[in-house]
Amino acid sequence: MSTRATDTTAPAPLLELSGLRKEFGGRRTNVAVDDVSLDVHEGETLALVGESGCGKTTLTRLLLGLLEPTAGRVRFDGQDLAALTASELRGVRRQMQVVLQDPYSSMNPRMRITDIVAEPLVTHEPDARGRRARARTRERVGELLEAVGLDAGIQDRYPHEFSGGQRQRVSIARALALRPRLLVLDEPTSALDVSVQATVLDLLADLQQRLRLTYVFVSHNLAVVAQVADRVAVMSRGSLVEVGEATAVLRTPRHPYTRRLLDAVPVLDPRRGRRAAERASLPAPEANR
Ligand SMILES: Nc1ncnc2c1ncn2[C@@H]1O[C@H](COP(=O)(O)OP(=O)(O)OP(=O)(O)O)[C@@H](O)[C@H]1O
Ligand SMILES: [Mg+2]
Repeated sequence: MSTRATDTTAPAPLLELSGLRKEFGGRRTNVAVDDVSLDVHEGETLALVGESGCGKTTLTRLLLGLLEPTAGRVRFDGQDLAALTASELRGVRRQMQVVLQDPYSSMNPRMRITDIVAEPLVTHEPDARGRRARARTRERVGELLEAVGLDAGIQDRYPHEFSGGQRQRVSIARALALRPRLLVLDEPTSALDVSVQATVLDLLADLQQRLRLTYVFVSHNLAVVAQVADRVAVMSRGSLVEVGEATAVLRTPRHPYTRRLLDAVPVLDPRRGRRAAERASLPAPEANR
């Protein structure tokens, strides 16, 4: 952790992005991310919103250390990603995991659930490899499946045997395998039916509390954002145009772009924020959908 001479009371942010820029080459340079500075604090959900192509996924790939910035810096837990050795970077990266919109495309259909969930363990932990580790790894996979509301007994089945919601739970289990501190959720429920979406959002809220996770939640669905976000960052054409408390940004957007974004969602009632969602007793997660 970095210590700050100027402020001894507030903890340093878990994630600090400063002056991030990403250009993609070609004959005409495309600036996908333009001078983005943003802090994400431990335990919060920061929603990243903005229209398609505005740079949300590129920004998440920069913060995960999967893309190298053209300029600017990413610090995770006080450590500058660009200053780390390859093995240090691996150590930091395992603390940040990602869940994507379409889990099916990132799952090998010929792999059993057990091997899909165990993949990060086997990759990162020598102890989890080999025949002697098998029983212990299966036990750990069983715990992970149960933590996401699935039956530990599904380990020998294949992804196509499950519904979209169940597959998304499997990919959340895989993302949790290395006990990360930060999850990047890039449109995690956008491909799901509304009722299933609600159960997965519920699961994510529950996991966040139990495991003290920090979420960067990318979504273009502002109704979902109103439900999950503590803070909202609004992106337009590569830049952040507004960052603030979710209720403030959604109720009284300051930037014209945010107002236009909100105007496009007539059903949204920003008073139904996260606290309201917690009070309204949401249905228990249902694994069998
Ligand atoms: N690997 C790449 N090479 C070249 N250009 C890219 C690459 N990745 C993204 N871009 C460009 O960067 C811009 C931002 O793309 P990005 O995928 O980050 O947007 P997004 O906000 O995630 O969009 P969506 O909501 O549709 O997922 C787009 O103009 C895109 O074409
Ligand atoms: Mg995207």
